[in-house]
Amino acid sequence: MKKIGVFGVNGVVGRLVLKELERAEVKAEVQHFGREDLPTPVDIAILCTDDKISETLASQLKDKAKFVIDMSARFRLDKDVPLVIPEINANTITKDSWLIASPNCTITGLVMALNPLKAKYNLQEVFMCSYQAISGGGKKLLEDFEQESSLYKANCVPQIGSLQENGYTSEELKCINETRKILALPNIKVRPHTVRVPALVGHSLGVSLRAKENFDIKEIPALIASQKGVVCDGKIYTPKEIAGKDEVFVSRIHLDSEDKNMLHMWITFDNLLKGAALNGRQIAQYLLEKMF
Ligand SMILES: NC(=O)c1ccc[n+]([C@@H]2O[C@H](COP(=O)([O-])OP(=O)(O)OC[C@H]3O[C@@H](n4cnc5c(N)ncnc54)[C@H](OP(=O)(O)O)[C@@H]3O)[C@@H](O)[C@H]2O)c1
Repeated sequence: MKKIGVFGVNGVVGRLVLKELERAEVKAEVQHFGREDLPTPVDIAILCTDDKISETLASQLKDKAKFVIDMSARFRLDKDVPLVIPEINANTITKDSWLIASPNCTITGLVMALNPLKAKYNLQEVFMCSYQAISGGGKKLLEDFEQESSLYKANCVPQIGSLQENGYTSEELKCINETRKILALPNIKVRPHTVRVPALVGHSLGVSLRAKENFDIKEIPALIASQKGVVCDGKIYTPKEIAGKDEVFVSRIHLDSEDKNMLHMWITFDNLLKGAALNGRQIAQYLLEKMF
């Protein structure tokens, strides 16, 4: 039986990865690693830790793990590291891939909705404003949110991650770069605003998309719904309703009233599931099925 080691088991994502492995009845022996535990040999290591700890663990696991799946941002843009959403680009994993990165939770929903459109339209530009849940900030932010004095109570905070010299936040740069890498569209223009809102679970995105050609609005909902893992059925979804669900929910699709090559939509999905633990578990299953 193959061994899967989950690192960061006491964190928000780590706990859910354990649940996901159990829920999917993944055929592997699962080992738990917390802050105090030294890495021991495993077939697949899943790192549910921050950038710095993932970097340290990755170097400690060099000759101790056949594959490493990292949930952090540390390696996502490295040239030789596949950045994977299995429904979209599992084929970027090869037998030589050692570390596979799971993407930023915010753009997971975006690329799941854009991927089926990409096959038919020449996508040029995406404007997005995110409405990101508190759980996206991990244990510390959830604890902070329990305090009456929390900045996030009954508020919207337009800074996620660190503020950069160019005025973007680190979260917004991830949205730009990771969208380009996953969709293999290096020139698509991504224009993000990322905002933390007082929803506990479920990230949402207000998206406006520009293509080279006019969109045929009659075919768009079915085209988006053809993406495995996406629900697009004409209903309007909110994060509260979809928390705990696996799919990415796309609604409010309409053409721009002036430019027929612009489309607007609302996307909501569970940041802890498809945005993290579910995606990580799917990558692990793919490795178990195809790479051993
Ligand atoms: N939350 C999300 O929606 C989301 C989505 C996608 C990706 N991610 C990424 O996933 C990673 C984990 O996020 P999170 O939200 O679960 O954060 P979190 O709740 O802060 O959990 C991080 C965990 O790492 C543990 N840890 C620290 N040093 C360790 C070590 N040396 N060995 C093993 N574990 C160690 C911490 O231990 P203690 O409990 O002892 O402090 C903590 O339990 C981050 O890189 C995050 O950016 C998060």
